[in-house]
Amino acid sequence: MALKITVIGTGYLGATHAAAMAELGFEVLGLDVVPEKIDMLGRGEVPMYEPGLAELLRAHVAGIEGSSGRLRFTMDFAEVAEFGDVHFVCVNTPQKHGEYACDMSYVDSAMESLAKHLTRPCLVVGKSTVPVGSAERIAARIAELAPAGAEAELAWNPEFLREGFAVQDTLHPDRIVAGVGSERAERLLREVYAKPLAEGTPFVVTDFPTAELVKTSANSFLATKISFINAMAEVCEAGGGDVAKLAEAIGHDERIGSKFLRAGIGFGGGCLPKDIRAFMARAGELGADQALTFLREIDSINMRRRGAMVEMAREAVGGTFLGKRVGVLGAAFKPDSDDVRDSPALNVAGQIHLQGGQVTVYDPKGMDNARRLFPTLGYADSALEAVRGADVVLHLTEWREFRELDPAELGGATASRVLLDGRNALDPALWRAAGWTYRAMGRPAA
Ligand code: UDX
Repeated sequence: MALKITVIGTGYLGATHAAAMAELGFEVLGLDVVPEKIDMLGRGEVPMYEPGLAELLRAHVAGIEGSSGRLRFTMDFAEVAEFGDVHFVCVNTPQKHGEYACDMSYVDSAMESLAKHLTRPCLVVGKSTVPVGSAERIAARIAELAPAGAEAELAWNPEFLREGFAVQDTLHPDRIVAGVGSERAERLLREVYAKPLAEGTPFVVTDFPTAELVKTSANSFLATKISFINAMAEVCEAGGGDVAKLAEAIGHDERIGSKFLRAGIGFGGGCLPKDIRAFMARAGELGADQALTFLREIDSINMRRRGAMVEMAREAVGGTFLGKRVGVLGAAFKPDSDDVRDSPALNVAGQIHLQGGQVTVYDPKGMDNARRLFPTLGYADSALEAVRGADVVLHLTEWREFRELDPAELGGATASRVLLDGRNALDPALWRAAGWTYRAMGRPAA
């Protein structure tokens, strides 16, 4: 009999995972504790913008015409426990308020609520990003609470999906990491992931702590790569070099690789910033803080680049933002997402607003979330409206829509034709040909 799957927590990770499991052919029951989310998902609607996810949900949510009917949602832990052979726990682990450590309360509460009802053999699979040592602690708690005893087992299977590519990354992962304590757990995970495994996806079997650390170290490596190139941008700014050319040249070395070497206003979002901070906090608790002190520098290079963008803009408008109009293209922390959590773009826009600039922001998908988070900023419904009368235009999230803008048309709407590219993603020649002064971070002025 085919395994039955449940997914607990239906945010970016859980909603995508649930839909992907249904797509792989499993019967899936998703759970969330927020009634509005359950209502939306039950109608096949997605509470966030993620390319392809709404379509995938509608293809499987029960009750939608033409769907496979394999995906349902509930708020009832007892129902989930009764239904599932494999339970994926996908709740978030945000940064604690005013601290570096991550908040484990959602994971702990989901695990406990589930464990109490586990009366039959099953595998509970943690997917959330957690501090090393959590899985061992949670496994002991499940053993204590679950009526099924040792038959209810834990595994840790970190998720590496990127926002904007969540569906693709979930259906075709570049590796599957299985932190397991028994052969049975490994066998069940191999059964769940049979399709990607048949396509050749590497399957790395580890113990619990290694599985937890794979995730935090991968994100730390990515953050390090971005801050490294941003540090080179700082040196280029001081010494007259061009960081884009530098990145292209070092990227040809296969050992370095060309990806994640785009200099600009740095990383943001719900993962990289909080994950490196939680990693440092955990290393501190373990007495291994020295091993990760470099991450403090990675974090501060990253935050410094936001300030550098503000400075560049201030210089461009003559030394003060007072009485100046600033057009901002981008609010989401990255393109193809409406996520504005710790968004470098909004942070820059907010700093300029605080310094007296009249800021108008436009983003293709992130407007509602941006308005909620920064209600005092000005907003426009199009790029053209955002730059109308602007003394300087800042390109802060590299949406395709912005690359396809007509520089001549946009220039006509501004007061000055000055563009600062905070993502090194626009074509300087194109903008300069249309009469713009184009400046980018880490690159010489023309
Ligand atoms: C990241 C990891 O990539 C993913 O594997 C993990 O599961 C979750 O965290 P995500 O947060 O979706 O994914 O974004 P990512 O594509 O990694 O980008 C993070 C940030 O870095 C963005 O703000 C992006 O604009 C910035 N970035 C990325 C750069 O500034 N330069 C680059 O070269 C690449």
